[in-house]
Amino acid sequence: MQEAMEIKIHELNTEEFIKVKSEEISKLVGQGLAINALSGGVDSSAVTMLGHRALGARLKTYFIDNGIMRKDEPQQIASIFRSLGVNVEIVDAKDKFFNALKGITDPEEKREAITQTFYKDVFAKLVRESKAKYLLQGTILTDIDETVAGIKRQHNVFEQLGIDPQEAFGYKIIEPLVQLRKDGVRKLAEASGLPASIFNRMPFPGPALAARIIGEVTPEKVEIVRSATAILEEELKGSGAFQYLAILHNDRVTGMRNGKRDFGMQIEIRSWDSVDARKAMPTHISFDKLSLLSNRMVTEVAGVVSVTYNITSKPPSTMEAI
Ligand code: XMP
Repeated sequence: MQEAMEIKIHELNTEEFIKVKSEEISKLVGQGLAINALSGGVDSSAVTMLGHRALGARLKTYFIDNGIMRKDEPQQIASIFRSLGVNVEIVDAKDKFFNALKGITDPEEKREAITQTFYKDVFAKLVRESKAKYLLQGTILTDIDETVAGIKRQHNVFEQLGIDPQEAFGYKIIEPLVQLRKDGVRKLAEASGLPASIFNRMPFPGPALAARIIGEVTPEKVEIVRSATAILEEELKGSGAFQYLAILHNDRVTGMRNGKRDFGMQIEIRSWDSVDARKAMPTHISFDKLSLLSNRMVTEVAGVVSVTYNITSKPPSTMEAI
């Protein structure tokens, strides 16, 4: 599956794709078990539906609550999939991730800590307990491109970096979406019977809110960025932007509150227009909307005294902050 060629959106016959890939999965796994991690993103959701079709009850689907997801995300996603007949189990792994992230400030080291905790600690344990031989994973072509090009190490790419998952983690990885880009995966997710809240879901990075915290990731900082994200998502829902996100900066700036100096936190808002995340332009958000966002963030998110909007394009920027 790994070396197959790109399937462009106009070439993608979803019915055929679902048929071929579920047959491949079912053949590979045989009578054994496979497991997968569902995050609710369109990639892991589409792969969950493929695996469910191929394996039924022989696929064990877990939502890993790593403590760095958005507000209420674990419960919301699990309930959508349960209503589709997919049995999702939520695994509380918050402490493991926060312990692994303690003291780390370098972006690539943060990514590595999350990757290792996910694959080596939490997942390897689930694999051992379930006796599954395979992990089904929603890696897409863009993840591989960016990792191989050395732009950003996407958390889910191994073989292309010369890492053998069997050797490193003790299980094999099946990646049925590696021929697709995001637009193809959305089409596939829709054809799999998933609701629009999933197939039109905004991209969200593997390292979750940790990708939006400059400097050390702590539960307190996650809570701040989570609140700012909830406000942003509420206000920009329906804006048509490809992706919007709130970033918590490490540097503090002088502000004032109740007539007193308040050396407070800074939130940076980014909102992107893009087709496939390879290139992106900042969204033209009205000044009134930006003011509303700023007012809500400084009043509703404790300790924030500065809100900025990033007007840089990708490249040279990237979409996430780390
Ligand atoms: P970047 O920041 O690389 O993001 O321009 C491109 C798209 O990929 C999503 N995404 C990730 N970004 N690390 C990232 O930095 C990851 O592991 C990851 N997974 C997905 C990102 O949200 C954007 O849509």
